[in-house]
Amino acid sequence: MSKPYDPKDFYYRKAKKEGLRARSAFKIEEIAERFHLLRKGMAVLDLGAAPGGWLQVMGEQIGPTGVVVGVDLVPIASIGKSWVKTAVLDIRAPDFAQQLSVLHPSGRFDLVTSDMAPKTSGIKDVDEARSLELSSLALETARKTLAPGGHFVCKVFMGSGFDEYLKTVKAAFARTKVVRPEATRERSFEHYVVALELKR
Ligand SMILES: C[S@@+](CC[C@H](N)C(=O)[O-])C[C@H]1O[C@@H](n2cnc3c(N)ncnc32)[C@H](O)[C@@H]1O
Repeated sequence: MSKPYDPKDFYYRKAKKEGLRARSAFKIEEIAERFHLLRKGMAVLDLGAAPGGWLQVMGEQIGPTGVVVGVDLVPIASIGKSWVKTAVLDIRAPDFAQQLSVLHPSGRFDLVTSDMAPKTSGIKDVDEARSLELSSLALETARKTLAPGGHFVCKVFMGSGFDEYLKTVKAAFARTKVVRPEATRERSFEHYVVALELKR
C-alpha cells in the first residue's frame, strides 16, 4: 500500500532546517552532483525559479565569479547574493528573448534549467498540453542561449507528447538521460530530462 500524502514530509522538513526555500532544492542538488553540472564561474539560466530553492543551491556552488539568472511569473525575493539576478518574466511572452538579453547582455549560458510547472486545471489532457508547452519553450530557449557543449535540465511530465519531446532533445544534445530524483513526491508524474553537451 502506498504511503498517505504528507505535504510536510522528510524533504520539506530538511529544507526548513537547512534554510532552503523549497524542497525542490534537493532535486537540483542531486542531479547536479550526479552529472557534475555545476562549477565556479559558470553562467546559468533558471526558468520557473520561484520561490528560489534552485537559485540558492546553484548560487552557492557557482560563486561570485559566475552568474545565475532566475525568472518566473511571480517575483522572487532576493537570495542575498549579488551574482544571482532575478526578474518577473513569462516564457510565453513574445518579447521573452529580448527581455532576457537585457538581464544577461552576453546572451550565453553554460547551463539552462527549468522547473517550470503550469497551474493545474485537474483536466489531464489540458494539464499535459500546458506542461509540454512549457518544456518545449524551455528547450527552445536552451537551444538559442546555450554555448556549444552547454547542458540542459528540464522538468517534464510523462504523458502524451513526451516521446516526441525526448526525440527532439536527443537530436540536439550528445547525451540525454531521464531521471527521477529522490526528493520527487511519490505520487508525482514528474521526471527530469538531463541533456548534456549541446551539439554545434
Ligand atoms: C515548482 S515551481 C519552481 C520551484 C523552484 N525550482 C524552486 O526551487 O524554488 C514552478 C514555477 O514555474 C513557474 N512558471 C509557470 N509558468 C511559467 C511561465 N510561463 N514562465 C515563467 N515561469 C513559469 C511558476 O510560477 C512556479 O513558480
